[in-house]
Amino acid sequence: MREKKVVDYLQEHFSEWQKKGYIPDSQIYSGYNTDQPIRERGWKFWHQLFNPRQLVVLGLLNKYIALFSKNKRETTIGLLGLNNVANRFSKLSIWDTGAEKGAQTFSNQALNTLNNYACRSSFNMYVLWRFALNSTPIQSDAVIKLCDAQYTDCNCEYWITDPPYADAVNYHELSEYFLAWDKPLIKKAFPDWYTDSKRVLAIKGTGAEFNKSMVEVYRNLAAHMPYNGMQIVMFTHQDTKVWAELSMILWSAGLQVTAAWCIATETESGGLKQGNYVKGTVLMVLRKRTSTEIVFEDDLYEEVRDAVQEQIESMRDLDEIENPDFNDGDYLLAAYVSALKVLTSYAEIEGLDVQYELEKARDNAGNSPVTEIINSARKEAYDYLVPDGISTADWSKLTAEERFYIKGLSMELNGVHTLAAFQELARGFAVSEYTDLMGSIKSNAVRLKLPTEFKMNHVNDPGFGETLLRHVLAAIYQSANKDNVQEGCSYLRSHYAANNQYWALRNRIVALLEFMSKVRGNANVAHWDNVAEYIYMLKEAVRNDSL
Ligand SMILES: C[S@@+](CC[C@H](N)C(=O)[O-])C[C@H]1O[C@@H](n2cnc3c(N)ncnc32)[C@H](O)[C@@H]1O
Repeated sequence: MREKKVVDYLQEHFSEWQKKGYIPDSQIYSGYNTDQPIRERGWKFWHQLFNPRQLVVLGLLNKYIALFSKNKRETTIGLLGLNNVANRFSKLSIWDTGAEKGAQTFSNQALNTLNNYACRSSFNMYVLWRFALNSTPIQSDAVIKLCDAQYTDCNCEYWITDPPYADAVNYHELSEYFLAWDKPLIKKAFPDWYTDSKRVLAIKGTGAEFNKSMVEVYRNLAAHMPYNGMQIVMFTHQDTKVWAELSMILWSAGLQVTAAWCIATETESGGLKQGNYVKGTVLMVLRKRTSTEIVFEDDLYEEVRDAVQEQIESMRDLDEIENPDFNDGDYLLAAYVSALKVLTSYAEIEGLDVQYELEKARDNAGNSPVTEIINSARKEAYDYLVPDGISTADWSKLTAEERFYIKGLSMELNGVHTLAAFQELARGFAVSEYTDLMGSIKSNAVRLKLPTEFKMNHVNDPGFGETLLRHVLAAIYQSANKDNVQEGCSYLRSHYAANNQYWALRNRIVALLEFMSKVRGNANVAHWDNVAEYIYMLKEAVRNDSL
């Protein structure tokens, strides 16, 4: 009966409310995200994403804000409240079974159509309407202008930008969900603003199209700042190809990275496309480039290596004094920025055609020389990221595969079992055949191969088969297989018999076994339980071994 009242009320007011803009009247235009409701439900208009009760409640809110707000401040607060309600008050708000309430439409950055959506009661909508704003008074005579950054003609000493990350989020499409509701209130509060998403102007896509627009933006902003002005660019990405593009974009715009800060942002942001899009964010400080120096590619590698070392050491010092708790990801981002600092400081890199590189599609199989330089920065950073319990001297003697295995085990000890983490690690150490070292690559149950799975396979084969770690793993296997650590000990003795190598290597062998002994009693690596005791006893046996 009540729902009939709602439907009747809506029918009565529908045309008038659409005309006045209290409920959406606009069409859903085709796009990457906006195609989803069209394709999955045949919805062609924004109002179709809401049921009659939702349309009535949101329409009444909109109407009364428009009629009763007395000034710009009240209209703006009303607008924010309306949008907050609209976010949890649509056919795209899923019923959150843990929390037993309707979730956000944008719990991920997509327009997902649902079978089990929730329609809140007015009581439950009230908490959304009365949301707490973190408000801070701003004393300023700032002017807010809506415009395309490629064509702004304002002069500023500081430009702060948070650019879109290629095609990660389609802001221009997703904002249309709210703009469908907001028109009368925006017109009332900000009569000079436009009320559509200006899709055509949005920087989007990947490859040449994205790069070209980004260069235009940064060139234009640089042209509108004084010689001693600054820009702050926020950026986040794990892919070195994207960092290479960014460095060429900033470089082409005549800018130079002079400093950078890492900050933690919405680390577990849901709904981003697959890939390593958001982890931490880097704030880069840029100035106009003044140098006219030309550099040779080979010299750059050396300079980047030094810059990465310096950066990581300074972060380490800070870590010890201030305890900011940097993790591997922070060190990596810092390494990329160090590379950017060096790259953008030169007027020209001998033999590099930046224009050509920026026009190449990102998914092009080959790497640009700049990507190679940034890859080398990443590798340098990884060389520095010595796991706890391994000395720097021992770490420096390990091959890339051995480092992958040891660092991978340290991730497992900390409960990290995702494929993305191991893939990133493999990229970091440039280990292409890392799957040979894996026992499982099942999602979220990813783990390294155990000594008892390696058995004696491929021992002495070129590559990992020849390494000290491989022989230590073989010795653990021998100990477990024969239930006697003396078997493992004599395996190592006989393998390294020539020139008394065993005795020279003994401390390193003990160090590796000591590190691996950490698996004992660690619930994150319970799958090591059957060999954990042998590792510990083998370590003691080798340590106490004598002629
Ligand atoms: C990463 S988001 C910024 C998010 C923002 N800092 C925040 O915290 O809400 C990138 C923004 O750049 C905007 N954008 C895309 N192309 C643009 C252009 N040509 N000029 C100005 N802004 C643009 C997008 O609409 C999007 O809002």
